[in-house]
Amino acid sequence: MMDRIPEAELMEDEEQVKAYAFADFSTAHNLFIETFQQKFSDINSSFNDVVLDLGCGPCDITRRFAQAYPDTGFHAVDGSEAMLNYAAGLNEQENLSHRIKLVQGCLPDIQLPQQFYHLIISNSLLHHLHDPFVLWETVQQHAKPYAHVFVMDLIRPVDEQTVKFLSGEHVKNEADQLKNDFENSLRAAFTLDEVRQQLDEKGLENLTVEPVSDRHMIIYGIL
Ligand SMILES: C[S@@+](CC[C@H](N)C(=O)[O-])C[C@H]1O[C@@H](n2cnc3c(N)ncnc32)[C@H](O)[C@@H]1O
Repeated sequence: MMDRIPEAELMEDEEQVKAYAFADFSTAHNLFIETFQQKFSDINSSFNDVVLDLGCGPCDITRRFAQAYPDTGFHAVDGSEAMLNYAAGLNEQENLSHRIKLVQGCLPDIQLPQQFYHLIISNSLLHHLHDPFVLWETVQQHAKPYAHVFVMDLIRPVDEQTVKFLSGEHVKNEADQLKNDFENSLRAAFTLDEVRQQLDEKGLENLTVEPVSDRHMIIYGIL
């Protein structure tokens, strides 16, 4: 099994952020929305609450979520000012700025507009965190009783050969910047067992960890 190689937490380099903000993530991000809908059928399209999105980046997931659940609002958090600048522009283009409040802040020290949320989502933040407990503690600090939690992230492959295989399968036609980022993210990701151990340690055993593609896992449940 390949050891984890952490990457930088925040994505702040202008070239990297631009490549990420304009990349086509429709396959992975539609998977996020579709799997959420399957797992949380009790949340229907008339759900009308403020959703907390941790590590929102350019808000592609947030906007897809906003389209699927038209009565929701969002507090979308990221530590990178550069990412939030792209998020602001793209949200404006889709006329969603009034529903998505951007919050600049670095987990675990974030100041949120409200203390507790009924729904907390996060995509591709976990593998960026040097200390993964930062995500689980933030979830615990800001969850209402019976809050719904839905996190998706990459699964670390067993070896470098598999990293290259997945890169060839999924980002073959992308710019070098994006290919490198994807490969580094795979190397920085956790395994299913590592995430299960993290949840056990934090008393979050009622969250389920499940693979949903050759490179993604979801971590979800009701607290
Ligand atoms: C790979 S991007 C994912 C963005 C978005 N969720 C998506 O799915 O497209 C990870 C984001 O997490 C942010 N991030 C990493 N560590 C963070 C921390 N400790 N606090 C806040 N944001 C963080 C990065 O700046 C980056 O924008």
